[in-house]
Amino acid sequence: MEIDKYFDEIIKSVNEEIEKYIKGEPKELYDSSIYLLRAGGKRLRPLITVASSDLFSGERKRAYKAAAAVEILHNFTLIHDDIMDEDTLRRGMPTVHVKWGVPMAILAGDLLHAKAFEVLSEALEGLDSSRFYMGLSEFSKSVIIIAEGQAMDMEFENRQDVTEEEYLDMIKRKTAQLFSCSSFLGGLVANAENRDLELLKEFGLNLGIAFQIIDDILGLTADEKELGKPIYSDVREGKKTILIIKALTSASEEERRIIMEGLGSKDQEKIVKSAETVKALSLDYAYNVAEKYYEKSMNALSSIRGNDIPGKALKYLAEFTIKRRK
Ligand code: IPE
Ligand code: IPE
Ligand code: MG
Ligand code: MG
Repeated sequence: MEIDKYFDEIIKSVNEEIEKYIKGEPKELYDSSIYLLRAGGKRLRPLITVASSDLFSGERKRAYKAAAAVEILHNFTLIHDDIMDEDTLRRGMPTVHVKWGVPMAILAGDLLHAKAFEVLSEALEGLDSSRFYMGLSEFSKSVIIIAEGQAMDMEFENRQDVTEEEYLDMIKRKTAQLFSCSSFLGGLVANAENRDLELLKEFGLNLGIAFQIIDDILGLTADEKELGKPIYSDVREGKKTILIIKALTSASEEERRIIMEGLGSKDQEKIVKSAETVKALSLDYAYNVAEKYYEKSMNALSSIRGNDIPGKALKYLAEFTIKRRK
């Protein structure tokens, strides 16, 4: 309960910060840019940023801005991701490109990309110049790494021999890097020492890997309404998730045929059969790998010196990542 209140207050303040920055004209551009941000979302990354800042008693005003920058950047990647993945549902609502068309959705993403940097530079304003530079450089590095991960994710659609190692490298980039940046920035604006900043990065990176594995599991197991995005879309797109990789390596000839028939298919019956076969062969395994990275993130967190409640909050967020249903 205490923790719920703690989270609610952060989300409210970060949302206010977001609203301050994402407004203007032309109306279509700003409507399409704020739409997804207002559609909900778990706000996991901004919560991580503020709780990481709180660990070192950072100034909340700065932390909220850094957190808003991270959430805005995240929403930019989601808008473009849904174009790339041809998904029509996000946060339980039609995706931006479905509502406004692809050209405006590309532009909304571009705007949010730039806005994220604008908000971040205000979060860092007044810090000493080497800290300012560290923040900006980690943030821009993250955008580059996400783009690399997204390109790998698409390239893997056309390959059947993707290894688990390659998958882990890909999700580190497309997803875990932003988690790492979220916790790092919280510590940075709170003037945490370099040693703790490295641990915060390690916490975020490993949590982000666990998070994406769970996202891939939910993509095959969740209730679509609760998840707010389409299930089985990874199979339809021929994505190489850890579940699909594991299933392909342990399948019998017949199972392999069923899985392959669904990958990249437009036939719903084939997609469902493929997904069911993948699940049966890989679910336990994928949970175990996620658990392993969750443990790694916990180890990093336990080496950080810090305050009580924000530490508990980070633990709670990490646990939620593993146990969530949406
Ligand atoms: C979705 O992230 C994109 C991935 C990296 C899997 P979230 O599951 O955090 O999405 P929201 O912000 O809660 O909608
Ligand atoms: C999300 O990847 C990663 C980024 C948006 C950068 P996915 O495509 O796996 O995530 P969902 O399932 O659409 O949220
Ligand atoms: Mg997607
Ligand atoms: Mg994607």
